[in-house]
Amino acid sequence: MDKVLILDFGSQFTQLIARRIRDVGIYTEILPGDAPFPPDGKALDGVRGIILSGSPHSAYEEGAPVPDRAWYDCGLPLLGICYGLQRITMDFGGKVGVLSSREYGKMNVRLDRASKNLAGPARRGFEALFDGVPDSIVGWMSHGDSIEKPAPGFQVVASSDNGIPAAFVHESKPIFGLQFHPEVTHTEHGFRILENFAAGICGAKREWTMTRFLEEAKATLVARAADRDVLLLISGGVDSTVVAALLLSCLDPERVHLMYVDTGLMREGETDEVRITLDALGARHLHVIDAKARFLSALAGLSDPEAKRRAIGDLFITVQKDETVRIWDSPDREAEAFLAQGTLYTDLIESGKGVGKKAQTIKSHHNVRSPLVEKKRAEGKIIEPLDRLYKDEVRALGRLLGVPDRVLSRHPFPGPGLAVRMPGEVTEEKLAVLRRADTIFLAELKSRGLYDRIWQAFCVLLPVRAVGVAGDARKYGWVCALRAITSADGMTADVFPFEMKDLLEISALITNRVPEVGRVVYDVSSKPPATIEWE
Ligand code: XMP
Repeated sequence: MDKVLILDFGSQFTQLIARRIRDVGIYTEILPGDAPFPPDGKALDGVRGIILSGSPHSAYEEGAPVPDRAWYDCGLPLLGICYGLQRITMDFGGKVGVLSSREYGKMNVRLDRASKNLAGPARRGFEALFDGVPDSIVGWMSHGDSIEKPAPGFQVVASSDNGIPAAFVHESKPIFGLQFHPEVTHTEHGFRILENFAAGICGAKREWTMTRFLEEAKATLVARAADRDVLLLISGGVDSTVVAALLLSCLDPERVHLMYVDTGLMREGETDEVRITLDALGARHLHVIDAKARFLSALAGLSDPEAKRRAIGDLFITVQKDETVRIWDSPDREAEAFLAQGTLYTDLIESGKGVGKKAQTIKSHHNVRSPLVEKKRAEGKIIEPLDRLYKDEVRALGRLLGVPDRVLSRHPFPGPGLAVRMPGEVTEEKLAVLRRADTIFLAELKSRGLYDRIWQAFCVLLPVRAVGVAGDARKYGWVCALRAITSADGMTADVFPFEMKDLLEISALITNRVPEVGRVVYDVSSKPPATIEWE
C-alpha cells in the first residue's frame, strides 16, 4: 500500500500530521527522526514521500536531531514542517538563526505566486503544493528560529506579515518547506496543502480505507490463527471490544476465548453490559471472572495512590495467570494459544516500542507489565490487529463490524477503575456511593447532549465529609467532585466549560438522590498541572 512516512523530531503535532493525511485516505507511518535509511523491516515499502516534523529543538543547537543524509538523497518528495524546514535549510548549507521576537499563533502568510524567479520544476512544484490555496492565508506559527539565509538551490515562495520566510521550494528537486503548521486547524487551507503534497506531489494512492483494512486484517488473522486457540483480555472499553468483534468475525468462535476480570472496581452495570455486547457479537466463550472479593481484600488498609495501583496491578497478574491455566485445560493447549490485545498505534508510540522515541514514558504507569503478555510476545504468539490504527479509526472499524455506538462512543476508563477515583482507602460502601453518583452524572451528560462533546467525565469521591442540612437535621455527608475534560489524546486536557445551569442541576440531582453525598464541587484544573484522574 502507498504511504507517506513522517520522520518525527519530537513535535507535539507529529501525530496530527499523520492523522490529517490518513483522513484523506493515504496511509502514514511515523519513524524516529534519526531512523537510518533504509529503515528496518518493511518501513520503506510503498513509501511515496517523506515529511520532516517540527521539534522542540533548534536546528543549530548541539545535539539537535538530524536525519540520516541518505533520506535527502533517496529521490522521494520531501516536505519539512517548521523545524523540518529549518533542518533542511541547515543541512543543505543555508543559515538558521534566532528571531528577535518569536512568531506564535495566527499570522498572515502571503504566497509569492507572481514571482518571476519561479520557473520550471520549482514553478510546477509550487503550483502543485499550493493548488487551490489563495495567495493570502492565515497560517498557524510556533517558532523562535527562522531562515536567515536560504540554502543554495532553494527559493523562498511565501512570507509572513513580519517578512519572515514562510515556505520554500527547491529549484529542481521535489523538496518543500513550510514554516507554519498546515496540520493545525487554525491554518487556512492547511489540510489542502498536506493533501496536495501527499496525493499530488507524492502521487500516493488513496488506499487507506477501513473497509480495505478490515479485509486485510481478516486475511492476516485467518492465515495466522485459523484453527488455533486465541485468548483476548476484555476490559469493556472500545479497543478490546473491537478486537473481539474482529476475531469473532473471521475465526471459529469456538476457538475464541474472551476473559473479563470483574475487579469490583467497575462502574454500575458494567459486567452485564460486557456480557450483552459480546453475546450479540457472537461470543461463545466469555469467561467472566468474579474477583471482587479478592481485589477488595488486596486493597484493604491501603491509602497511598501508588500502593493501591500496585496492589491492583499485582493481583491482576495473579488472576490472569490462575485463570488462563483454568481456561486452557492442558499445558500444551496453553502453550500453543495466541494472546490477542487491543494495542493501538498511539500505545506503541507511548510505550516507546516501535516508533517516536521522544514521546516515551508519559503513560507507562498505565500499562501493567503483564508476564503473560511478555511471555507470549517473546514466543511470537501475540496478535495486535489494531496496532496501526488511531482511536477514531478503531471506532470506524468497530462500526463496520457492528459494534454498537454506545460502546464505540464510551469515554476512556482506567484499568484500576474506581479505586483511583476515591483518594484514601477503597471500601465497598464508598464504591457503592461513587457508583451511584457517577451513574447520575453520566446519564445527565447523555440526556443533555453533552457526553459526546466531552472527552472524559466521571465523579470522584473525596475522603472528606462536610456539614450540611437535610430538612431540619444537621447532615454530615461526603464531598463528590465532578471531573469533565476535553482533550485530543489524554496527554493534555482542558476543563469542559459547563453552563452553570447544567452544573447546578446535576449537583442538585446527585445530592438529592445519593443521600450520603452532602456537597458537589467541580474540578476546574487542566492537565498539566493536574492529571485527569485524581490518583
Ligand atoms: P492521567 O490521569 O494520567 O490519565 O492524566 C490520562 C488518561 O489515562 C487514563 N488512565 C489509565 N488508563 N490504566 C488505563 O488503562 C491506568 O492505570 C490508567 N490511569 C489513567 C485516564 O483515565 C485518562 O483517560
